[in-house]
Amino acid sequence: MEIKTDYLVIGTGIAGLSFALEAAKTGKVAIVTKKAKMDTSTNYAQGGIASVLSLDDSFDLHIEDTLKSGDGLCNRQIVEMVVKTGPEMIRELISMGVNFSHINNSDNLELGMEGGHSRRRIVHTKDKTGNEVERALIERVEENKNITIYEDYMAIDLIMISKLVRRGIVKSESNESCWGAYVLDVRKEEVVTFQARVTVLAAGGVGKIYLYTSNPDIASGDGIAMGYRAGVKVSNMEFMQFHPTCLFHPLAKNFLISEAVRGEGGILLNKKGERFMERYHPLKDLAFRDIVARSIDMELKKSGDECVYLDITHKPEDFIRERFPYIYENCLKYQIDITKEPIPVVPAAHYMCGGLVTDQNGMTNISNLYAIGEVACTGLHGANRLASNSLLEALVFARKAAIRSKHDLEKNRDIPFSKAPLWEKGVAIDSEEMVVVTHNWDEIRRLMWNYVGIVRTNRRLARARARIENIQSEIKEYYWNFTVTRDLLELRNIALIGELIITCAILRKESRGLHYNLDCPEKDDENWQRDTVIWI
Ligand code: SIN
Repeated sequence: MEIKTDYLVIGTGIAGLSFALEAAKTGKVAIVTKKAKMDTSTNYAQGGIASVLSLDDSFDLHIEDTLKSGDGLCNRQIVEMVVKTGPEMIRELISMGVNFSHINNSDNLELGMEGGHSRRRIVHTKDKTGNEVERALIERVEENKNITIYEDYMAIDLIMISKLVRRGIVKSESNESCWGAYVLDVRKEEVVTFQARVTVLAAGGVGKIYLYTSNPDIASGDGIAMGYRAGVKVSNMEFMQFHPTCLFHPLAKNFLISEAVRGEGGILLNKKGERFMERYHPLKDLAFRDIVARSIDMELKKSGDECVYLDITHKPEDFIRERFPYIYENCLKYQIDITKEPIPVVPAAHYMCGGLVTDQNGMTNISNLYAIGEVACTGLHGANRLASNSLLEALVFARKAAIRSKHDLEKNRDIPFSKAPLWEKGVAIDSEEMVVVTHNWDEIRRLMWNYVGIVRTNRRLARARARIENIQSEIKEYYWNFTVTRDLLELRNIALIGELIITCAILRKESRGLHYNLDCPEKDDENWQRDTVIWI
């Protein structure tokens, strides 16, 4: 089956939906998402959106905080552009029906505090900001006649002009360009060819590559993997951000305890009940995220304990329940009353600061192909993302990419779609060995956690590389021999993401931001104040 559209968007998080709403002003938009439309990382974002909105704050302060957090690798121009567009983006979300928290029902937004911010500037909806933003954007998208969402449609690979040239389908072209994607209709088990004049990768993060993560199950790096296979440059994959505080409980899966809890006075304690962050950084519990995660890791290694504790019990009970209703309710399910007892927490993989390299408009090095949201490496986050800067980045770049890609649409509008070949099923037969997929998936996640985690060494990285290469070749053989399924596609993607993270981590011969290697523990500005960039 074939579907033709002006814009193809892969992903229904804040970036994909925002792009679609702007792009729909000029053309038809198809959005594909591999599960249900609300199954996105955005939907689980608790903290909020950083933006300068109070009289005691300034763009300069937000810019400085972002640059400090990024530890020498942010692109200042991009930081300035994103920070200065922030207030406008918040107003736009409000006009689209997003209900943010206000101070005592007044007109004034309630601004939260998080680590690394020198002022209160986190616009939020209690502790469920992402869910509220996602709800409003989905509603606006569903009202729009120019946008269609395809649920349970998982993108496999991009349709590249060079492949069509090689097959003699189109005449030779000087520039590599993208013309849509092959997408698995998961319910019908059929591959659909989506032909598009503009394609946007907005498929979210990679957290599921690690054994412990705050991310939902969908976060298997599909967008970055597809882009890399198509020839997009990939950068800074060594900078995986570990969130310091995920709930530690045998039955709790991926549950984040927002940094806003520390922003409102929450204190980290070890098992003996000692405050330990003051031993690691003058900003104590509100130090930058890389520092807090590493400090917890050191405390746990020293003590042999399984977790540390986050204590907010000194705050009034009503305040805690009102400000953090979602965290309160969820912890209660595990018999933890956060108003009365400290919360057991551990660090877990949370956000990929690297990704597909884009310019200030979200454009990749391939014509007609854009990357926005967590998929992209725009230069905003550098070596360590400042808390709550990512939803802002997604909004700003979605809009810029939509405005810029209108030119591509104009340029390509009169070019007839070429006859892209249908997906070749080849010798594929239904797999009866899906257990191999589960084993490989499990092995990769453990390997990444144990060898490519918060603290790395040259030896562990070399081991990780050898193991991932073996797993990769097994998957390749499996991939070409069996019918594609969502699980198999995800496995192929996480194996590639693992390889990219390991490769970048081996390349960087220093410690900076989120990348900490015991064999080169110092920062080396002379040689390494630059991005790691890889491509095929
Ligand atoms: C949080 O609520 O702690 C997450 C916010 C973020 O990752 O920016």
